[in-house]
Amino acid sequence: MNDSHVAALADRENQRFAETHPASAALRARARASMPHGYPMSWFHGLNAQGAPFAVSGAGPHFTDADGLRYLDFNLADMSLFCGFAPPAVAAAVAERTARGWQFLLPTEDAIWVAEELGRRYGRPRWQFTLAATTANVEAMRLARVATGRPIVVMFDGRYHGHADEMLFAPGSGGLVAEYLGVDPGAAHRVRIVPFNDPEALQAALAAGDVACVVTEPAMTNAGVIQPAPGFHDALRRLTRDTGTLLVIDETHTQVCGPGGLTREWGLEPDLVTLGESAAGGLPFGAYGMTAALAAVFERPDPDDPHAEIAAGGTLFANALSMAAARAALGTVLNDDAYARTAVLGARLADGIESAAADAGLPWRAHRLFPRSGYAHDGNLPANAEEARCGFRRDVADLQRVYFANRGVWEAIYSAGPCVGVAHADADVDEYLNVLSKFVHELTA
Ligand SMILES: Cc1ncc(COP(=O)(O)O)c(C=O)c1O
Repeated sequence: MNDSHVAALADRENQRFAETHPASAALRARARASMPHGYPMSWFHGLNAQGAPFAVSGAGPHFTDADGLRYLDFNLADMSLFCGFAPPAVAAAVAERTARGWQFLLPTEDAIWVAEELGRRYGRPRWQFTLAATTANVEAMRLARVATGRPIVVMFDGRYHGHADEMLFAPGSGGLVAEYLGVDPGAAHRVRIVPFNDPEALQAALAAGDVACVVTEPAMTNAGVIQPAPGFHDALRRLTRDTGTLLVIDETHTQVCGPGGLTREWGLEPDLVTLGESAAGGLPFGAYGMTAALAAVFERPDPDDPHAEIAAGGTLFANALSMAAARAALGTVLNDDAYARTAVLGARLADGIESAAADAGLPWRAHRLFPRSGYAHDGNLPANAEEARCGFRRDVADLQRVYFANRGVWEAIYSAGPCVGVAHADADVDEYLNVLSKFVHELTA
């Protein structure tokens, strides 16, 4: 597998994609007049040099694009569609809710049901709602700052917790560097980034006693998959407790691992849990759960000022439609059986990836995180983001995405790796693996 062979295959596949997607190309050309990069979510262009299909409809694990082509989806809108496209129970609840009004700026009973259900699942009794996981994390951090009276947030290298300024820094040679233009460099003073799985670095970052909270995914999912080393979560909880630092576990992606995400699966004890996306079947939804002690701070952030309030909320937060969708998704689709079944399918996928790669003489390893898999091209499952970056070939992943798209299998995000959802069956995993088998043999030919 040499670089020029990868580049030649990419040229061939990009060309084929362009030839078979004239309707999507025409829509993109039209969109360029009204949207930067020709996408309503501009960041998408960096993932789709060859152009992305414009979507028309979806059902189960499939969607259809503007050219009438059908795809078996293994990215599931970055796992936000873990319930599948248009799951009937969520579609019915949404239709029923829209017929009766979807926004009141008043609470609906569904919100109580959802908060109670999330409390039961995640073991954190009090909840607030947003429209996205980003904002759930922003508000969780604010609450942590108020509760501790400290300014700093610690996160792990390789993290993605959303698009707020303080979440968009990475370690550089002379300190933290903003990953994008437009991010306020001043926000770096409120952030520390340390390697995952490194209790000593974490201890050093917390030592000054100025950290409000550590925010982390239980297993990192945005730089491939980085599993916690044995004992890391114990060390994380001990060090945060010892230094009076709060622990925020972001379950936005990992909620697909079990009814209470990895928090419940692994018996973690966060002060705050944040999530979003798939808990409402992919409708706009974010939530954060807190302990009773933190809820008391939330309600009375300043004991001397009965009118003081934490900055939280938005006009559409906890709207009736999001709440109805979350109730239907959690109450009907996301049951114990769904998590058990998708974990088995995820293992079938990971096994299949490793055996297809081995058949072609490639050393690749597959990530294994319940329904989610992914690729470690150098054959080493990473312990931190640096290892993940070194072991992953972006050019191969980009080629694989367009190769798969040309054969009816969709993976939207190069760094994500495939994930099965509730609507997938054994035959869908086998279809993915058949395409993979052809791919790796062409790659090594
Ligand atoms: C772990 C994690 N947290 C938060 C977010 C932000 O979610 P959203 O884009 O819904 O705000 C993401 C998005 O992928 C994520 O992966």
